[in-house]
Amino acid sequence: MINVALPKGRLGDQVYSILEQAGYSCPEILDKKSRKLVFENKEKGVRYFCVKPTDVGVYVERGAADVGIAGKDILLEYEPDVYELLDLGIGKCRMCIAGYPDFYDDTDRPLRVATKFPHIARTYYGEQGRDIDIIKLHGSIELAPILKLADVICDIVETGSTLKENNLVVLEEVVPVSARFIANRVSWQFKHEEIVAMRKALEQ
Ligand code: PRP
Repeated sequence: MINVALPKGRLGDQVYSILEQAGYSCPEILDKKSRKLVFENKEKGVRYFCVKPTDVGVYVERGAADVGIAGKDILLEYEPDVYELLDLGIGKCRMCIAGYPDFYDDTDRPLRVATKFPHIARTYYGEQGRDIDIIKLHGSIELAPILKLADVICDIVETGSTLKENNLVVLEEVVPVSARFIANRVSWQFKHEEIVAMRKALEQ
């Protein structure tokens, strides 16, 4: 059996369709009413775990899952020690710095940055030598500049509608993001054939 960690939520449905196209289906996963977290496709020899997107790397790094699908944003933020095997080309979005269109950066004081991704934000501004004050939030990041809690946000932009509806704009692009197929380092050695077969099927 290969154990596969899958992200729940927004990316989940797209992930499921590419698994289905690749021949690794498991229709039970689509039952939104179900609270089940473990699903099997015995014929293919796979067992799926549905986990929080931010936790996929943890399951795979620790070997609880042999492989997983995680956004590049999560991989950059948490830097799990895993192999990144394939860019799946789904869940495409951008990590951006956003704020009001008339934002002016007063370099005499630290820039207040609200984000769910403190490591990405620190790295980005660190490379520019810009001193920042991180305000770690867990959601609705766009509220921070509106309430003057922060000067800018460092967040995911997909369609751009959350920014637009809150009168904010992209100020800088940090990095493009998409979903990646990742593998545990030990599993990559010991379940090599199965993992390579899955990667090949997902490549199509
Ligand atoms: C994400 C992100 C933005 C929004 C961007 O939030 O943090 O708020 O999606 O998407 P858009 O460009 O298509 O509008 P999410 O929906 O995950 O919810 P959250 O605010 O609870 O983090």
